[in-house]
Amino acid sequence: MRENMNSEKWIEKSDKYIMKTYGRYPIVPVRGQGSRLWDADGREYLDFLGGIAVNNLGHCHPRVVAALQKQAAELIHCSNYYHIPQQIELAELLCSHSFADKAFFCNSGAEANEAAIKLARKYSRETFGPERYEIITATDSFHGRTMATVSATGQEKVQRFFDPLLHGFTHVPFNDVAAMEAAVSSRSCAIMLEPIQGEGGVNVPSSEYFRDVRSICDRHGLLLIFDEVQVGIGRTGKLFAYENFEVPPDIITLAKALAGGAPIGAMLARDGVAASFTPGTHGSTFGGNPLVCSAAIATLRTILDDGILSAATATGGYLVAKLEELGGKYPFVKEVRGIGLMIGMSLGIPAGEIVLKGHGRGLLLNFVHDTVLRFVPPLIVTRQEIDKMIAILDGIFAEVEL
Ligand SMILES: Cc1ncc(COP(=O)(O)O)c(C=O)c1O
Repeated sequence: MRENMNSEKWIEKSDKYIMKTYGRYPIVPVRGQGSRLWDADGREYLDFLGGIAVNNLGHCHPRVVAALQKQAAELIHCSNYYHIPQQIELAELLCSHSFADKAFFCNSGAEANEAAIKLARKYSRETFGPERYEIITATDSFHGRTMATVSATGQEKVQRFFDPLLHGFTHVPFNDVAAMEAAVSSRSCAIMLEPIQGEGGVNVPSSEYFRDVRSICDRHGLLLIFDEVQVGIGRTGKLFAYENFEVPPDIITLAKALAGGAPIGAMLARDGVAASFTPGTHGSTFGGNPLVCSAAIATLRTILDDGILSAATATGGYLVAKLEELGGKYPFVKEVRGIGLMIGMSLGIPAGEIVLKGHGRGLLLNFVHDTVLRFVPPLIVTRQEIDKMIAILDGIFAEVEL
């Protein structure tokens, strides 16, 4: 049985047994409900990080919990050598609500991107020959921690220490059409972009950017891959973020929020592209197993049935207005930006201190790119919870000494 220990004791053990890949905060969450978490000492937190854009339905949504409990008692796992009804139903749901015809399932965002990279290379090789393998991505992008996705990521801090990186990735500034056009060569096979850069600072491109990128892809026969790992599954008020830009991609990748907190990744593609994955060319033991797919079906159905998308748009608008009002009081607040409930507040001061102070006052937030506070709360967050968060932030901002 799990020991009933306080946070301090858990942290002591964590330091002893867990590899230090994360600089962890001294908080030990043990229970969650909706937008709230409780730690091992019984302290309550308002959660505006949502497991980094994972808990879109909040913690322990009853429909997700029920689906997991039911499925766990029936069949947890079986091999992808067989047909899996829950996987088929999930694929149908995703395809019928998107541009895509086929789905591939794995266990994380990085794996979904790995799958997209492999599929794009194989499709391109079969369509145009072996010389076209290069994928153009953006600086400040984030695509994962595996070797291919580290190579795809446009951030030196993610890549350093791991040379030699995988050959065949070029990085260009985000939201710069001329730079993209100039980067296309006879070796290019695809362009891979986040619709909104998350880890790179919550960067929203101009409304024309993706239309122009689509046109570059069409002129040069390149695939357009959208990494929707962070911004997909309702985060922007649309089921898929690309819908905001009205630009159809050829491939998208999903993970994080797709199964309400159970680990899953997915890659969706049009038939003509998906056909390049033939038996034996890609796979994953756990990918799309009955347990995780049942959680994903419950998550998607709840998002679609319960008005979660329109709620995210409305609540996102409220949150932006409140953050802008707050920002108006403090000269170090530079900009509030985002779509739906994918929101960043850029500061003229380091954001890390603000996050730490939030923890002390029962608020979980995080920051990206040193100076940007990121707000990715559950899509079910209420206006009262937003008001409470704003009041906490106001108290913290008032103490900032410039
Ligand atoms: C846009 C994007 N792509 C890929 C990933 C990697 O996902 P995972 O951590 O599930 O491998 C992340 C994670 O933050 C992400 O934000």
